[in-house]
Amino acid sequence: MPAIPTLSLERILHTQGFGSRRACRQMIRDGRVRVGEAVIDNPLCELPPAELAFTVDGQHWRYRERAYVMLHKPPGFECSRAPRQHAGVLDLLPAQLRQRGVQPVGRLDVDTTGLLLLTDDGTFLHRLTSPRYALPKVYEVTTRHALTQEQLRALRLGVVLRDDPEPVSASVCEQVSGHLLRLTITQGRYHQVRRMIAAAGNRVEALARVSVGGLRLPADLPVGAWRWLGPDELARLRPASSRE
Ligand code: URA
Repeated sequence: MPAIPTLSLERILHTQGFGSRRACRQMIRDGRVRVGEAVIDNPLCELPPAELAFTVDGQHWRYRERAYVMLHKPPGFECSRAPRQHAGVLDLLPAQLRQRGVQPVGRLDVDTTGLLLLTDDGTFLHRLTSPRYALPKVYEVTTRHALTQEQLRALRLGVVLRDDPEPVSASVCEQVSGHLLRLTITQGRYHQVRRMIAAAGNRVEALARVSVGGLRLPADLPVGAWRWLGPDELARLRPASSRE
C-alpha cells in the first residue's frame, strides 16, 4: 500500500497562512494548536494534511492545499492588492488568507457589489480571467433612465467602446423592469458594463454581479461576508479552469 503523505504540523500551519515557520513553531510550542481534543506541542509531529481539522486559539480550520473562496463584495472597496483611496477587499478576509497570497479573480469597480472569487491558485486565476475561456459573468444593472427597446437592441447587437473599434455585445440582455437589466458578458474589459451602458445611451446607477461561470451569489451570504467554495461550486467552475 502506498504510504500516506505527511507534513510536520509546523509546515502545515505555515502553508495555511499562520506566519513564518518560526512563528508557527512557537505557536505550537505554546500549546495553542489542537488536533481533535489533543494539544500538540511538538512542531515536528507528522500528520497527513489532507482534510486535517485543527484549531488555533480555539478557532477551527481545515487544511486546504489551495484556497478558493467567494466574497459578497460591498460597495466602497477596491479589488487591487495595494488599494489607494478606499479599503481593499482583502481586508474583509482573515489574515491567514491574505498571508497565503489570495487574490481576486478579476476585478470589480469600487462601487460594484456582488460575487467576487478569490484564490491563491495562479493557474485557476489565470484560466478564469483569460479571454480564451470567455467565462460568462451576469450583472444586474440599475440604470438612471428608463430602458428603451433601442438601447436593449444596441447592447445585444454590440456597442463600440472608445478604446476599441470592435463592437462588444452582451451574450444575454434581459430587461427585468423599467430601470433594471440583467446582462451577461463573456469579456472582462475595464469598466465594461458601465461603458457599454453609456455607449447605448443610458447610465449605470448601481451594478451588482450575481453570477460567475454558472456559480450564483448565494442569497444567504451577507454583504461583506466570505466563505470557502464547496466541491460542487468548484466543480461548476472547473470546466473553464481546466480546459486546455
Ligand atoms: N463592468 C463594470 O463596468 N464594472 C465592474 O465592476 C464590472 C464590470
